[in-house]
Amino acid sequence: MSFTIIEQASSRLNRCELAVPGSSPHMFEKAARSAADVIFLDLEDAVAPDDKPKARENIIQALHDVDWGSKTISVRINGLDTHYAYRDLVDVVERGGERLDLIMIPKVGTAADVYAVDMLVTQIETAVGRKKRLGFEHIIETALGMQNVGAIAAASKRNESLHFGVADYAASTRARTTQIGGPNADYAVLTDPDEAGARVRHWGDMWHYAINRLVVAARANGLRPIDGPFGDFSDADGYQAQAARSAVLGCEGKWAIHPKQIAVANAVFTPPEKEVAKARRIIAAMEQAQAEGKGAVSLDGRLIDIASVRQAEALVAQADLIAAPAGR
Ligand code: GLV
Ligand code: MG
Repeated sequence: MSFTIIEQASSRLNRCELAVPGSSPHMFEKAARSAADVIFLDLEDAVAPDDKPKARENIIQALHDVDWGSKTISVRINGLDTHYAYRDLVDVVERGGERLDLIMIPKVGTAADVYAVDMLVTQIETAVGRKKRLGFEHIIETALGMQNVGAIAAASKRNESLHFGVADYAASTRARTTQIGGPNADYAVLTDPDEAGARVRHWGDMWHYAINRLVVAARANGLRPIDGPFGDFSDADGYQAQAARSAVLGCEGKWAIHPKQIAVANAVFTPPEKEVAKARRIIAAMEQAQAEGKGAVSLDGRLIDIASVRQAEALVAQADLIAAPAGR
């Protein structure tokens, strides 16, 4: 281990993060009763410019009136390049009350962006005497943000998670996409011909580098890496596949832009019982090995060492968080 110890952000379940437009208050109650771990009430791209003031009021009212149960509640403010962002922060943080957990900052480009929001939020929190410190979720969705993702991840003690905003990222990098967050058939390679001259086309994942880079920056700073939207909400299999590949890379959850996607995300990001049981056995076997003065031991015919135990502990911690009685 490095002498630099990574401080983990406060642990929260973040398997599914449901996007709900602030301009659609009729959706709030249903969202509150859904199985999503986190809900973000949106003031940014899902809200038309003329609707922004009303959306702020809807959100402030809902933060007080809706029973959100044990969910984590976030508000996505507008980008710092707009004149909406300061008003979003002032109104929502001043009047949103203690039920608000997180602020989601879109299109973060530099660590200074985070610093600026931190400064304003800190002043407002102090002025209104908020008891609970607000956390930050950052959407990495521009070339600039991806270039600076490590510095952004380290820029504030409030930071909790990094999100891959694939739609804006595609626009910013001018990637050729066919649908939000899906694959592109042109991102493929052809195998060499076999003896009969046949070649096979293998699709690649055009988002692999971006997601992996985000995962590394998040984990190196104790934050949760979260995969963003998948646009075709009628394609459950496509969503499942994208979520599963993000989970394999280390993401803890994925956005749902439609309630249909929630159950799939929860299933993908909940460790299977079999794996959890195995992880508990690995931990127990290693405890026994250590008591006997051994550094490694075999279980079911395979070597396990301290690295296996770390993986097992992370899995068990996540399973325990899921199993914990709902409560805030
Ligand atoms: C999310 O905000 C995205 O742009 O994908
Ligand atoms: Mg976006």
